Amino acid sequence: MTPHLLVLHGPNLNLLGTREPHIYGHQTLADIDQHLAKLASELGARCTSFQSNHEGALVDRIQAAAHEQVHSIIINAGAYTHTSVAIRDALAALGVPIIEVHLSNVYQRETFRHHSYLSAIAKGVIVGLGAYGYEAALRYALSQ
Ligand code: DQA
Repeated sequence: MTPHLLVLHGPNLNLLGTREPHIYGHQTLADIDQHLAKLASELGARCTSFQSNHEGALVDRIQAAAHEQVHSIIINAGAYTHTSVAIRDALAALGVPIIEVHLSNVYQRETFRHHSYLSAIAKGVIVGLGAYGYEAALRYALSQ
């Protein structure tokens, strides 16, 4: 069966391309998602993406993944990384491998960005590599 990777993007990531490009780069979310979908298909997998500015919508999407035989989840939860027990609990309940991605190096930034509710349940965490972090996460996930 073709492995299905689910990529989740949290709040404000829909603004990529125009949002603080000196921090987050010039690529739009559509650019990133299209690249991941193409790469996944080249590697014999399927990659779908979901973005929401709403915590509950992200929880609903994670719960729905229980019925979809998802191989792994790549998640950049944006600011919810630092606040959301609900997203962590939903991911823990799903029980598939999680790779946490951040475009920026959160450890070079404000201290409130240094704590992640997701890292302890993630297989790995990629920070500071820009959009390439998603590609690295996808390649790693498919190597497993
Ligand atoms: C981010 C870092 C978070 O602290 C921030 O709230 C974001 C983006 C990143 O990709 O670097 O929205 O997750």
